[in-house]
Amino acid sequence: MSTHTRDKRLTVPQLVAMKDQRRIVSLTAYSSTLAKVIDPLVDFLLVGDSTAMVGYGRPSTLSMRLHETIAHTRAVVDSTRLACVIADMPFGSYQESHEQAFRNCAQVLSRTGCAAVKLETNQALAGTVAFLVARGIPVMAHIGLMPQFVNLMGGYKAQGLTEESGRTLMADARANLEAGAFSLLLEGVAEPVARAITAASDKPTIGIGASPACDGQILVTEDLLGLGGEHVPRFVQQYADVAEVIRHACTRYAEDVRDGVFPSLQHCYGV
Ligand code: KIV
Repeated sequence: MSTHTRDKRLTVPQLVAMKDQRRIVSLTAYSSTLAKVIDPLVDFLLVGDSTAMVGYGRPSTLSMRLHETIAHTRAVVDSTRLACVIADMPFGSYQESHEQAFRNCAQVLSRTGCAAVKLETNQALAGTVAFLVARGIPVMAHIGLMPQFVNLMGGYKAQGLTEESGRTLMADARANLEAGAFSLLLEGVAEPVARAITAASDKPTIGIGASPACDGQILVTEDLLGLGGEHVPRFVQQYADVAEVIRHACTRYAEDVRDGVFPSLQHCYGV
């Protein structure tokens, strides 16, 4: 098992300095239970707005609320001590104005202790990124396939497949780097475009369904564990079938209870 030899929580500047040194490893976490296990294995943990789908069983990420982001991020920060924790700002919490974005991001940072926020952004929202960074809020810029734009896209569509889309993505990347984003998260981006953005960027790129050309990778943890249900994207490699492990253990438990072989309280407390 490979763990990182670190005894303190990774900071945003340390994450940035990993570009061209070694690949960055990251996963999502929403709960204390999983965060504790994953903490020593990754460089950063993202409390993604995918919580809405994976944690609450809702149809998209659009329903994620700020108070939910705060509660889940707080749980992850409180349960970990090594990974840099980044909170994903929910739909509607930062798009209205620079001031709204600052107010909500500041609340997330101050009430959870996380190190940074992630925003789904493009050229039009780069001004918001600049406003936040100038006021002390580190921003990871999520470009490419942006799930919060699902209604505009008419589904979850890979990006950068045409020359025009590739040019738009390059411009999105440039605008957000110039705005001060400390990293770019590329979701569902065609390999040649992901490679070109990574080569042109002095900040690390983190890919999800964006090829190995990126400086690091992220996956939704439940997807690689076989707990993702019907929403698992095709590019995800499933490393375990935890759903089957749970089913097996719970079936045995149910059988024990029905058979009356459940350990008695007297047995547990030695009375
Ligand atoms: O919400 C999320 O989990 C994400 C990842 C898919 C990158 O944004």
